[in-house]
Amino acid sequence: MTRTSILLLAMALAVAAAGRAQDAATAASAAAPAAPFADLRRQAPVRGDAQAGAGKATVCAACHGPQGVAVAPTFPNLAGQSATYLYVQLKQFKEGQRRDPVMSGQAAPLSDADMRDLAAYYASLAPKPAGPADESSRGAQLYAAGDPANGIPPCQGCHGADAQGPRPVPNGKPQPPWASFPHLRGQSAIYLAKALGDYKSGARADNSNARVMQGVAQTLGDEDVQALGAYLSTR
Ligand code: HEC
Ligand code: HEC
Repeated sequence: MTRTSILLLAMALAVAAAGRAQDAATAASAAAPAAPFADLRRQAPVRGDAQAGAGKATVCAACHGPQGVAVAPTFPNLAGQSATYLYVQLKQFKEGQRRDPVMSGQAAPLSDADMRDLAAYYASLAPKPAGPADESSRGAQLYAAGDPANGIPPCQGCHGADAQGPRPVPNGKPQPPWASFPHLRGQSAIYLAKALGDYKSGARADNSNARVMQGVAQTLGDEDVQALGAYLSTR
């Protein structure tokens, strides 16, 4: 072969390879359209019409309960959760950064105003009453102090000493950046383990807050997840 024919062959191969890469990219994007990464560091505080939200929540009650306390441990409680956190999660289910076979479909038809109203409604409900958590358990210790030897940070640093997330700031006042951090107290051990597993595997990683939790979840072993679930679900 002459140098020219080698060059021509190489160019032909490169074009074919580029074509295949394009086909693969098209197939991948047809399977799962890439949702844009959401930067929540400047997420404005979310307000909505709680009363209007109550009227829109009928369908949600089937799983999340008539008062926002879930009917089964596979569903999260929404009552008393941060409105900003709830709004952000609904938006992410709708836009595709967070995916779930049930919730993606539930969020798809909601307008931005619907999501704000639903978030305001669930945030206004009384959280699940406190349980008999064992404050001397391994889960309590991990929650309050982490496990520095294993790189586990204290959860309370971000989720609050009482696990109720950020303190609400009265309407109209500037909200701290952690207004989008969730309340964890009273969530079921099953839901907590599912959420921590999704962060760890990277299934829930397409926003700046989820990236923070992805780093935290990497430090947790199965026993840590169980201990934290047992503690938080009974708090
Ligand atoms: C058929 C059951 C079902 C219905 C109906 C339903 N959800 Fe959900 N919801 C789920 C499940 C399951 C999850 C957890 C998804 C996951 O694991 O990521 C969830 C998660 C959520 C979350 C995230 C909570 C968190 O702590 O991160 C919000 C917010 C939410 N749902 C709001 C709603 C709203 C608002 C409606 C009504 C418009 C609704 N859901 C209807 C099953 C349901
Ligand atoms: C540096 C701050 C930070 C620390 C430390 C932290 N978290 Fe988080 N956590 C967050 C943020 C921010 C989110 C919201 C992520 C999102 O939007 O998906 C979150 C979300 C979660 C969720 C999902 C809640 C839901 O309703 O779906 C769980 C569960 C959770 N954290 C558990 C923990 C546990 C357990 C620890 C301690 C081992 C911990 N976190 C430590 C910031 C933190």
